[in-house]
Amino acid sequence: MIYLDNNATTKVDREVIDAMLPYLGEYFGNPSSDHPYGIKARQAVESSRAMVAGLINASDDEIIFTSGGTEANNMAIIGTSLLFSSRTVTRKSHGKGHIITSCVEHPSVLNPCRYLHDIGFDVTYLPVDRYGLISLHSLDNAIRGDTILITIMHANNEIGSIEPIAEIGRIAKQKDIVFHSDAAQSIGKSHIDVQELGLDLMTIVSHKFYGPKGIGALYIRKGVEIKPILFGAGHERGLRPGTENVPGIVGLGKACEIAKRDTGTRLSLFRTLSERLFNGLLKAIPDIRLNGHKTERLQNTLNITFPGISSARLLSAIRDRVSVSAGSACHSGIQKPSPVLKAIGLTDEDALSSVRFSLGKDNTEDEIGKAVEIISVAVRG
Ligand SMILES: Cc1ncc(COP(=O)(O)O)c(C=O)c1O
Repeated sequence: MIYLDNNATTKVDREVIDAMLPYLGEYFGNPSSDHPYGIKARQAVESSRAMVAGLINASDDEIIFTSGGTEANNMAIIGTSLLFSSRTVTRKSHGKGHIITSCVEHPSVLNPCRYLHDIGFDVTYLPVDRYGLISLHSLDNAIRGDTILITIMHANNEIGSIEPIAEIGRIAKQKDIVFHSDAAQSIGKSHIDVQELGLDLMTIVSHKFYGPKGIGALYIRKGVEIKPILFGAGHERGLRPGTENVPGIVGLGKACEIAKRDTGTRLSLFRTLSERLFNGLLKAIPDIRLNGHKTERLQNTLNITFPGISSARLLSAIRDRVSVSAGSACHSGIQKPSPVLKAIGLTDEDALSSVRFSLGKDNTEDEIGKAVEIISVAVRG
């Protein structure tokens, strides 16, 4: 079985499991408790916070642990919007405020935006070009006097294209607008520095880079405020109440520490393997087409259209030997063309004939060679 679906999730690293295990056993304390059990757990949480911060060039006190990407995105988008509307209750001339996002975001960004629209905020969904990239010119044009938030993903989960985040950051700063980016797919697959990118808020998801599921973080730049969207005790500066998921946090911290050490090596592996995969498939099936940007793309992600064969048929032919995804895993099972592929201009037919290959650190050249062979035979029927 060859696993080429690492954008859906990754296998937890052995080093991460080893770091977590003691916190499921002997170090089981509640980090809020004022005795040695609690203190041990608190130390682990704080040292993980430093590891997360260290990976993205942030300070420890700019990291809030969440239950994953969905929660971090909701917290950033709804939390920023609620803060703004609470300060401008007397403004009558506009709605509650204006948010700019793109039409290729993950549902965990699009749906909070839809919710905010339903309760009175205005939302602009920027279109993308055929590579999935927004235009800075349209962003500039979309900005209004009441724009409170720009939320644009760092890299797309389906096609891997990387948005011009640093340039967006400069525009947001100039216009004094809060800037959030969902970097769920980019951490550990690309060098991310929140200072260079000019981000105010950034979403981090552990299970996309060899950490456990159900844990993530939100980077909140010092000085940037958001309203809480969950209410309880005062954990995580009152922004994410609830007893901390200590083993998960330890796992995320370890995954960040490893990513800091290994991202360079991983990138060169992804480059070699993705070239080999694409060139191998192209040689066997000359009419395949790559979706997404040729260079401004996550090195591990290849979204390919196989004209004339539906991805459902192709996936069922290879299912027992190669794991890949038709569209994003979050929507799998539903035979609807991917909105991302439609947004970059694919016809329904081509969108339904497209497959996402996403490589991981444990893939080998041998596996890629075998996958090319299996897929070529399946496509030729
Ligand atoms: C781009 C992007 N954002 C957010 C998420 C949500 O992460 P989680 O499922 O951990 O909440 C995902 C997961 O697929 C993703 O790919």
